[in-house]
Order: sequence, then structure tokens, then C-alpha cells
Amino acid sequence: MCGIFGMIGQNAVENTCRALKYLEYRGYDSAGTAYKTDGSLNIVKTVGRVEKLTEIMPETNGCNLSIGHTRWATHGKVCQENAHPFYSYGKKFAIVHNGIIENHVNLKYKLNSIGVKFLSETDSEAVAHLLEKNYSDSVFDSVLLTANELEGAFAVVATNTYDDSLYALKNKSPLVVGIADTGVYFCSDIRCISHFANKVAVVPDKTIAVATRNSVMFYGFDGNPVSVKFFTADTAQETETVDGDYMLKEILEIPDKIRQAKQGYIKSGGLNLPSKTVHRLKRIYLIGCGTAYNSGLEVAAVARKLLGIDVIPVIASEFIYDSYPVDSYTLAFLISQSGETADTIRAAERVNSLGGFTYAVTNTANSSLSFTSSVTKNIYADAEYAVASTKAYNCQLVTLTLLFADLAYLKGSIDEQTRNKIFDSIDVLPSAVDKVLEDSYQISRIAEEVKDSSAVFFIGRTADYPTAAEGSLKLKEISYIHSEAYPAGELKHGTLALMEKGVTVVAIACDSAQIDKMSLSIAEVAARGARVIAVSPYNFDNAALVKVPVVNKLLYGILSVVPLQLLAYYVAKRLGRDIDKPRNLAKSVTVE
Ligand code: AGP
Repeated sequence: MCGIFGMIGQNAVENTCRALKYLEYRGYDSAGTAYKTDGSLNIVKTVGRVEKLTEIMPETNGCNLSIGHTRWATHGKVCQENAHPFYSYGKKFAIVHNGIIENHVNLKYKLNSIGVKFLSETDSEAVAHLLEKNYSDSVFDSVLLTANELEGAFAVVATNTYDDSLYALKNKSPLVVGIADTGVYFCSDIRCISHFANKVAVVPDKTIAVATRNSVMFYGFDGNPVSVKFFTADTAQETETVDGDYMLKEILEIPDKIRQAKQGYIKSGGLNLPSKTVHRLKRIYLIGCGTAYNSGLEVAAVARKLLGIDVIPVIASEFIYDSYPVDSYTLAFLISQSGETADTIRAAERVNSLGGFTYAVTNTANSSLSFTSSVTKNIYADAEYAVASTKAYNCQLVTLTLLFADLAYLKGSIDEQTRNKIFDSIDVLPSAVDKVLEDSYQISRIAEEVKDSSAVFFIGRTADYPTAAEGSLKLKEISYIHSEAYPAGELKHGTLALMEKGVTVVAIACDSAQIDKMSLSIAEVAARGARVIAVSPYNFDNAALVKVPVVNKLLYGILSVVPLQLLAYYVAKRLGRDIDKPRNLAKSVTVE
């Protein structure tokens, strides 16, 4: 998945490069721009970051039409040829694309058969060639024909030499449009576009948008005009620059963001679920990917304790194609920091289509996920830039815990006092997290030993297991050390075979009811030569202790993940990794 941008207006090329910087979280394998001067199209692109692109950009004074792209490679390796934008064969069109053209092999075959040569390995290049092939005397007609030939998910912005309009085609990949005195803008996300325009609209699926300097018109793939509702977006704050890494800055913000998440939840009206939905509820899904899935996994353990009904955490990409039952008695929480994750949006669409109730828990109001869901609850973590998600996880857990406390109270499975006790216990967490942060020098020291591990296993039981899963995800994604998470009791069924000198085991042991069992697991792995680190309020033989304060037993997940986030950070730092932009990843995954 990638970030795309296009604009007609003042300082188009400079603004496109500026926008690409905001979009870089969506992919940073390569960057490029196309712009029009004296009736011809020019493309400048490079492997690497937007910064590199800006260094090689020529002077483009007065240019008022430009498109741009930041790439996360799906089809074809990371190289100059596969970087966007792409020209059509006669250089009459140039395009940028985000998504996957599922029928690109057929299209390529057809285009090859009429003599069109492809210069890249991408699926996207076919769109540029199709536009030129389909042109006879109207660019709009060519765009329309092309839109109807494409299958899959796509947001495309195209420029051409025939007229001075900017064209966009959209189906299933995110695309927003913004209008301001300075021009008309297309972009992959609202956060970026609101740096340029406040009057914004989300382009619906199967829509073509045609922009001139002051206006934009929308058409369906049948060629008929469609009306699209604009709304006023908040003006984006300039991205605060940090000395060092966003990831560490974002971990240090956790105490404040926990407070903010609770206040935000209360101020925004709490649960906000129709009472009919609450009372007929029979089944609840918690759906997300990566860290968002782990927060569902964690809160499911809490929810099971509070409610007497099925609470099932599911990975979004599995939920879409498996036969998880959904009916009008089903409530699905769709958890996503970005609100743009394709798998999670598709899962929401499946729930909607089968008559279930969709409830988005996201850090991005006005995201594609919010538009797909019946209710949206913000987690109030504020913008998160590091690819490794940290503070959003803690805020997802705070919000979901409060949601489940309210839900359980409304369903009658807990009394008001228990509900209020959960709410009050959240207030202790910021200072508990502060205590862990104060000990970060100790974690940094442990990181020095962990960095040379051949593998790192994270283990835990009950609600500590999801924390282990999140700790493991964090470590592998930014340090590139092989890491797995296991329910501690499961080790003896196979994974114990991997325990030897050089392996590190991080044991999360906060559930007081499981301490004896965790002691046994620690003894078992230590006996096989593994170095053991325990994250716990309690001491263990055979393990170095990272102590966490005692808190309400339903809330340990929000606290005990913090030392693991720090551990991943310090290990990756000592290994010299690119902390905020780890290899092969992107912040927002907008393809299935
Ligand atoms: C987290 O560190 C990851 N980079 C990743 O797993 C992420 O949580 C996942 O892609 C889901 O993103 P979302 O919350 O924006 O939907």
C-alpha cells in the first residue's frame, strides 16, 4: 500500500513533496512526482525516502498541476523502475496508484498484444497504458472506459497532456478530496489533506472525480453524475519534529494519553449503543490486525470476566473469508489505530452485510473505517507516527475496558459499584506507568544482553498471554530478531525443544492466580539454558525482574506492555535499526 496525492493549484510540485512527507508513513520504499510544464509531462522518482526526492527535484516555478506517490512494494521489488508515477506508452498520461489491480496479468497480456511494452513489474503501470489506449477524443471517456476495465482495489490519480484537469478513479482504496482557495487536492488520507484544505469529502467506491482549479465533479462508473457530501475537517497541526525517535516520544506520552483516553471516552458520551442492540446481544467479536488485534485479544480476556456471553477476538484478514457467524444479535468492535487498514474495513463490510452491528474503535475520526461503521469511538491517543504502535495500544485497551464495563453494567452482569471501580482504577495507571518509565535505564541495560539472542520467546498465561503477543510483535518488527509468543502452558507441547543457551524468554506474570504455574514454566526454560526476564509485581527464582506496580487485575495489560515496548525500542536502538521506519513495513496497510 502506498500514499497518493494530486493537486491543481499554487506551487503544485512543492506542495506535492510536502504532502508526500505526511504520507510517508504509508510506505517509504520509493517516492516520486509527475508534473506538467509547457504541455508535457515530467516524472521525477527515486528509490528511498521523500527527502531524497526533494533533493533531486528540479526548479518547477509556476507549475500548477502535480501528482505524487510514496510506495510500499506489493508487485515488484524496490527499484527505480517500479517507483511511481508511471507514464503511458506515448507519455500522454501519468498516474499514481494505491491498491492492487487484480486483473493486471490479463490487462498486461492484452496491452502486450497490441505492442505496448511495460517498463516495470508493477500492476499499476497497466492503468497508465490503458488510459492512453482508451483515448479517442475525450479524456473523461478514456477514464470511464479504464475504470470499467479495472478489477480490484484502486485509488488512482491521473494527469494528461490533452487537458488541464486532474482525474481520480476510486474503488475500495482510500481517497479523499479537498477544496480550498489555493486549489483542489486528492489524497490518501484526511490527516494529510487537512494541511491543505478544510472542505473535504471521502470519495465513494466506484467513483470518478474530475478536478479543475476551483471545482470537482463526481461520476459513477456508469458515467452518471453522483453527489458527494463535503464536510469541514479540523486544520492539521504541523507535525512536531522530535530529536530522536517518534517511538520513544510516543511511549513517554502513554501516561498522559491514558488520562486523555478516559476523559475522551466519558466526554464523547460513553458506550453510545442503542439499548435494543445491548439487550439482544448474543455474540461479540473484537476484530483487528497486528497490535490492534492484540488489544482485542487482551480485552477479550477482561470482557469474558465481565460478561456472560461469547467474546471472540479475530484477526481481520481471517474474519473476512472464514465463516464466523454474524446475525442481528452480533456486535463487532473493529479496532484500528489508522482506521484505514483494508482487512479491518473489509471485515466491517462483512458484518454490515450480514446484519450485525459495527462499532469502530479508532485513533482517526473520519477515517474509512468510521464511514463503514455504525458507531465510532475515538481512543484519543493523538497522532502516532512510528510504525511500531505503542500509545495507541494502551489507549485502545483503556477505551475497550471502559466500553466493556459499561456494556456489562447495562446487560446486568456487573453492578454499578463494580463498573465505577473499574473506571476509578484507570486513574492509578498513569502514575504506575510513570514508575515503569523511571526504571527505563534498567530495561536499557537488559536490552544490551537481549540484543545478541538467537531468538526471544514471550510467554504468559490468561490475560498475560496477549501482552506477550504484543511484546513479541514489537520486538520482531523493529529489531528483526526472531521472536514468538506462547501461552506458557503450551511450551511443553513442542516449543520447549527450542530452549537452549543464547535464547531469551520474557515471562509476563501479573495474574496472581497463575504465579505458581509461571514459576514452573520459568524453571523449565531456565533449566534448558535460556536467559529469563520476568515482567511482574512478584519475584521469581532464575529470572531477572522488571518490576511493575500492583494495579487492578483487569488492567495489567495496559501497564505491563510498557516495559516490553521499551525493551523492543532499546534492543533495536542498540542494533542500529531504523526505529520509526523498519524494513518492509508501513504504518497503514491499505491493501488486503
Ligand atoms: C504495530 O506495531 C504494527 N505496525 C501493525 O501490526 C499495526 O498494528 C496493524 O497494521 C494494524 O494497524 P491499524 O491499527 O492502523 O489498523
